[in-house]
Amino acid sequence: MMEVLAEKKVAPTINAEWQRMEVLVRCLMGTKLGKDHDAEQLDLLEQLQNQVEWLRMSSANPWLLLPIHGLPPLAMDVLAAVYISEAQPRIGWLYQELQSGSPQPYITPALLQILLALNESEVCVLQGLIGPDGELIKRNLIVCDGDTPFSVLRPVRAAMAALMGWPQQEAIPPGAIRVNQKVDWHDLILPTNCKQMLREYLLWLHHRDTVINKWGGRQLGGPLALFSGPSGTGKTYAASVIATELGWPLYRVDLSRLVSKYIGETEKNLARLFDAAHGKPMVLQFDEADALMSKRGEIKEARDRYANMEVSYLLARIEDHQGPCILTTNLRSQIDKAFSRRFQMVVEFPRPSEEARIELWRRMLPRRAPLSKCVDFDLLGKSINITGGNIRNAALHAAYLAAEDNQAINMTHIAIAVWREMAKERPQLNKRDLGLLGANLPESLCQ
Ligand SMILES: Nc1ncnc2c1ncn2[C@@H]1O[C@H](COP(=O)(O)OP(=O)(O)OP(=O)(O)O)[C@@H](O)[C@H]1O
Ligand SMILES: [Mg+2]
Repeated sequence: MMEVLAEKKVAPTINAEWQRMEVLVRCLMGTKLGKDHDAEQLDLLEQLQNQVEWLRMSSANPWLLLPIHGLPPLAMDVLAAVYISEAQPRIGWLYQELQSGSPQPYITPALLQILLALNESEVCVLQGLIGPDGELIKRNLIVCDGDTPFSVLRPVRAAMAALMGWPQQEAIPPGAIRVNQKVDWHDLILPTNCKQMLREYLLWLHHRDTVINKWGGRQLGGPLALFSGPSGTGKTYAASVIATELGWPLYRVDLSRLVSKYIGETEKNLARLFDAAHGKPMVLQFDEADALMSKRGEIKEARDRYANMEVSYLLARIEDHQGPCILTTNLRSQIDKAFSRRFQMVVEFPRPSEEARIELWRRMLPRRAPLSKCVDFDLLGKSINITGGNIRNAALHAAYLAAEDNQAINMTHIAIAVWREMAKERPQLNKRDLGLLGANLPESLCQ
């Protein structure tokens, strides 16, 4: 009961902080676009400034929920500017535009200085708050990705939760698993066109505010993408790149598990999932989309009819959900064409080409591992046609074999590792299946 009361008391006061910050950001946007200051907006800003000042001096000051004792008033401005990215995600998108298409929806010290119009002495105070030894960092209220003026500042989840009355534990949407991998564009080896499509997908997030709020574009849910391609071609990896770019966590949902055996249960499962994800900065990836979207048409049993209802329900929920959703499938041909138009982006992940395999081999062997001079990346890429996922497994296995031998990784280690990897899918494997690499296999292995 106490908690509920506390939450109710905080909400209106903190809202004034967000509103003021939003008006500041919009004024700055206007300046960037070369517009004159709008008198109405300046009036509103003044009113909000007064409101915020008054609240901060009262006992209802929402920032008192955080350990800010003894800090200068500027600390509250900084917290408001940093925390608003998660409290009001649309402002995070504006930050990205103000920071020339920055990949992450968080403010940098450089923009903070401009936004708060700080003078020289205030910049020194700011440094004391967010510099490497800054008070806000020491008190675990914000984190900084680096120590340059262009490193982003993010809220600390526990502090944000205390301020907003959110549960302290990060709420994982039911049925989802967090994918913890930070991946850079450079590590993703795909045809240029594919990578370009992924970049364009991000535009739907970066420029949402311009297209929807300013230009009156129709507000769709998602954005929604379909990634299709064979297993191990980098679909989840690409979803991780997108999540890393946004600075948001990636959650993976296995649709075939979520689709319950019991008619009607699926809808409940999906509803719980989307309710938990609503309004949170996160990327949702649904694997095995074919489990839900396989070809309609013949309805053989009552079960199929329900399956169709579930698909409609899922798509309706996704269309409502404001946040990136990525559906993946190994079976593109199973996806009903009627669904394709619902996706903002459909990306096909091909098996890697020869050049791509050479590049993948170069990157997948552990970076600091000693390499024998005989390791021939061109030969590896040319002689065996396997996916990035296979190459990753084989490269690691080769490293373990070399570590056991106390030697640099050589072509025999790699040949054995590739053999093991390929044998998983082809029990009747032949030395010839390894092409030129086969010459490096120990005789004992392929008898
Ligand atoms: N195109 C790629 N570029 C870089 N690394 C890749 C690529 N494809 C695969 N990998 C490597 O292989 C691993 C497995 O790939 P990933 O999990 O993304 O495959 P997937 O397409 O999602 O497969 P599945 O359909 O089985 O889920 C990745 O973690 C990455 O290390
Ligand atoms: Mg995957």
